[in-house]
Amino acid sequence: MNYTEPHIPTPEDIIPQMLRMASVKPDELVYDLGSGDGRLVIAAARDFGARAVGVELRMRLVKECRRKVREMGLAGRVKITSKNFKRVSLRKADVLALYLSSYTLNLLTPKFTKELRSGVRIVNFDYPVPDWKPTREAEVTPVGWKKPHPIYLYEV
Ligand SMILES: C[S@@+](CC[C@H](N)C(=O)[O-])C[C@H]1O[C@@H](n2cnc3c(N)ncnc32)[C@H](O)[C@@H]1O
Repeated sequence: MNYTEPHIPTPEDIIPQMLRMASVKPDELVYDLGSGDGRLVIAAARDFGARAVGVELRMRLVKECRRKVREMGLAGRVKITSKNFKRVSLRKADVLALYLSSYTLNLLTPKFTKELRSGVRIVNFDYPVPDWKPTREAEVTPVGWKKPHPIYLYEV
C-alpha cells in the first residue's frame, strides 16, 4: 500500500472549531481524505447534520470507523470508502475537512483545482496548502498540547 500520511488523529476538542470555520450546514457533503478513525466525518454528521464521506486506506481504521458509525446510528449519513484518496472523485463535495501535511496537500492541489466546484471550503489542521492564500486562519491550542497550532480555511 502507498500511504502518504501516518495516522495522527485530529485532537477531538478542535474538531467543532474546524467544522464551524468551514460553516458546515445540514445536508452538505463533507469529505475527509484519510479519515482515520472517522472522528471528523462522524462529528460533521452527528453535530452539524451533514452527510459525510471518509476515505481511508488502513483497513483496521476503516473497520473501526464503520463499527462506530453503525453503533451511533449514522450509517445513513456517513460512508467510509476503503480506497486511496487520489482515486476518489471530489466533484460532489461541499467541504473538505482534513488533517494532512503540506507535502500531501501539494500533491493533491491539481486534483482540487480540477474536481472541486467553486465555493467549496477546505479546512485543514496544522498545515497550509502550499501557494494558496487562506480565507481565514485561527490559532488553537488543543487540550494537552503545549502551544497554539493553526487551522487554515480556503475557499475554492
Ligand atoms: C494525519 S491522519 C488524519 C486522520 C483523520 N483525518 C483525523 O483528522 O483524525 C491521515 C490519515 O490518512 C490516511 N492515509 C494516508 N494516505 C492515504 C491515502 N493515499 N488514501 C487514503 N488514506 C490515506 C492514513 O492512514 C491516516 O489515517
